[in-house]
Amino acid sequence: MKLWGGRFEKQSSKEIDDFHSSISFDCRLYKEDILGSIAHAEMLGNQGIIPKNQAKLLIDELNKILEDIESGNIKFDIQAEDIHMNIEKILIERIGDIGKKLHTGRSRNDQVALDIRLYLKNQIQIIFDKLIRLESTLIDLSTQNLDTIMPGYTHMQKAQPTTLAHHLMAYFQMFKRDITRIKDCYNRMDEMPLGAGALAATTYPLDRNFVAQKLGFKKITDNSIDSVSDRDFVIEFTAWASITMMHLSRFCEEMIIWSTDEFKFIEIDDSFSTGSSIMPQKKNPDMAELIRGKTGRVYGNLIALLTTMKSLPLAYNKDMQEDKESLFDTVDTIKKCIDVFTDMLKTTKINKDRLLDGAKGGFTNSTDAADYLVKKGVPFRDAHKIIGKLVLYCIKNDLDLYKLTLEEYKNFSPYFEQDIYQHINLHQCVSQREVYGGPAPEQVKISIQNGIKFLEDIKL
Ligand code: ARG
Repeated sequence: MKLWGGRFEKQSSKEIDDFHSSISFDCRLYKEDILGSIAHAEMLGNQGIIPKNQAKLLIDELNKILEDIESGNIKFDIQAEDIHMNIEKILIERIGDIGKKLHTGRSRNDQVALDIRLYLKNQIQIIFDKLIRLESTLIDLSTQNLDTIMPGYTHMQKAQPTTLAHHLMAYFQMFKRDITRIKDCYNRMDEMPLGAGALAATTYPLDRNFVAQKLGFKKITDNSIDSVSDRDFVIEFTAWASITMMHLSRFCEEMIIWSTDEFKFIEIDDSFSTGSSIMPQKKNPDMAELIRGKTGRVYGNLIALLTTMKSLPLAYNKDMQEDKESLFDTVDTIKKCIDVFTDMLKTTKINKDRLLDGAKGGFTNSTDAADYLVKKGVPFRDAHKIIGKLVLYCIKNDLDLYKLTLEEYKNFSPYFEQDIYQHINLHQCVSQREVYGGPAPEQVKISIQNGIKFLEDIKL
């Protein structure tokens, strides 16, 4: 008979058991479930709700069950529905009536809310470290590329010269926000829901703070109905993951473009590429494409979770069991993507000459040429027009701004002097952009130093 079978006259079919049981996926929560039960049992003993020696028996057996699961000696039973009842059932099979006392003052509703929070807090700690490793990699690469000139783009058209370090540090900022965002998410979910019972708490004198402290939570939840109805933290985490995946996908997209024959800015290592079954010459950036592609599945998980929770009346509803697969898939996907991406980045070859050549084309120093005239007293709008005409002249005559003679320059404005050539030199263009946050190596160094400090100081 089912653990809840007292008021039932009929059994459910195998098909129905298959349909509503969650053990095939929530078995992943075995450890959290057992640790939660151990804390609960100890508290029941301390509070005199069950005798202390019985609490000890429960704890000892739960520890044994944990060991047996970890050594692969336990087979879960679909009839027992989910991880919570599977473990309770095993406990009762092993120690009989005392095992039946574990669920005193507790419901699966607060139990599952606890398990997911414990699981996710743990996973966030792992993910947090992976993000720090990614950021450190960006710091290293930026430090090595302070003077690596490259074209900056808008609309995928060459715009102004910058450096690879400056470009990489833009991604550093994006992932920095991801780090502070996941920290917020972690702190908000750091509340212990046990004691909420099914929804209306319990008449037993539970010590919720003891359980919270035992399990490493910062505080206990404030409302028992909310405690069992809330999955905001799962949604918030998946929203966090969606934003982080979006950032990774942008970086991957650039790496894919940069490794084309047209760009050749970088070469992704062979170990992160694949070949073609028909075209012998091919080397494809599959890992970058896969990370870009997996962004879609994480967004899908977010939409699934939001839709599952939409319009659910308070308190617990079985719909909420659907949270787990989306959450687990999100956790697995983001962990793998951050790792693969970081390793791919570390091994990517940077083609500095091609980056510099790229910056030489496309008149990326036009703004600097206009600024030159402004410094000589020409209003910016007029300077913009003069340089526009110069660029058109160059395009028509297959020239660029370096190749024009001073005479040609003077045909467009009398303010041009010999020093124009030095002014439109790409290194000069970059090093003069000394505004805070700009690409001048001195500024990027500051940004790197701030980044290092951030990584040293940040803790969950
Ligand atoms: N397996 C359930 C879930 O994941 C556990 C809670 C079940 N509670 C209940 N009253 N049916 O949501």
